[in-house]
Amino acid sequence: MIELKHVTKIYNPGKEDLCVLEDVSLTIARGKFTVLLGPSGSGKSTLLNLIAMLDVPTSGQIWVDGKNITALKSESARSKLRLTKMGFVFQFDGLLPEFSLLENVEMPARMLGKSSPKKAQSLLERFGLGHMVHKLPADLSGGEKQRASIARALRNNPVLLLADEPTGNLDAQRKIQVFEDFARMSRSEKLTILMVTHDVHAADFADEVFTLQNKQLIKTK
Ligand SMILES: Nc1ncnc2c1ncn2[C@@H]1O[C@H](COP(=O)(O)OP(=O)(O)OP(=O)(O)O)[C@@H](O)[C@H]1O
Ligand SMILES: [Mg+2]
Repeated sequence: MIELKHVTKIYNPGKEDLCVLEDVSLTIARGKFTVLLGPSGSGKSTLLNLIAMLDVPTSGQIWVDGKNITALKSESARSKLRLTKMGFVFQFDGLLPEFSLLENVEMPARMLGKSSPKKAQSLLERFGLGHMVHKLPADLSGGEKQRASIARALRNNPVLLLADEPTGNLDAQRKIQVFEDFARMSRSEKLTILMVTHDVHAADFADEVFTLQNKQLIKTK
């Protein structure tokens, strides 16, 4: 489902030359729940952004669902692939401030011209937010925003879910719920999940765990 082949990422090449990933190769099979650990600044978000096509590697190739995404040249091809195959939970929730929770969760479907607010409503209910669907993100707690952004990421039934510290603002019980939910979805819906976290307990729920350190990925489970 995801394959990185000799991926190197250098920020500001030729100027400051900050090498974050060096010759990283990785294969993640369909339906696996994979956790990515690593110290702050080690390049976890960078790795997710490359897979999400929000940035490009300095060298190497990335394949997603059988497609060489590093070879996609047009933004419209990238955005179509993103909207139809991928869901994202960003490190900072990324909800649109001027839209209600319901509108936020519905947005990915609207962008595909397939709107059905009922689906957004039921996703929000599933994450315990059914009673606040008309609220604006600013009127929610950090944990509520995080749960809403997980609901939004799932709206278009992606085959790949990329989640960057999706549980950082959640209490212990909600955190476990999300980890259990991710483990279950990966098994029953064959959803491939790559989740960045600082929470070592997540490893108990994951099929595989990688740690990013000194520009390299090490398999730790
Ligand atoms: N756009 C950018 N331009 C230049 N340097 C960047 C850019 N984005 C990130 N970096 C640098 O790359 C390194 C890795 O950043 P990244 O955000 O991937 O780390 P991280 O592992 O996600 O950290 P955290 O756990 O704190 O979120 C950091 O040193 C950061 O300062
Ligand atoms: Mg990060």
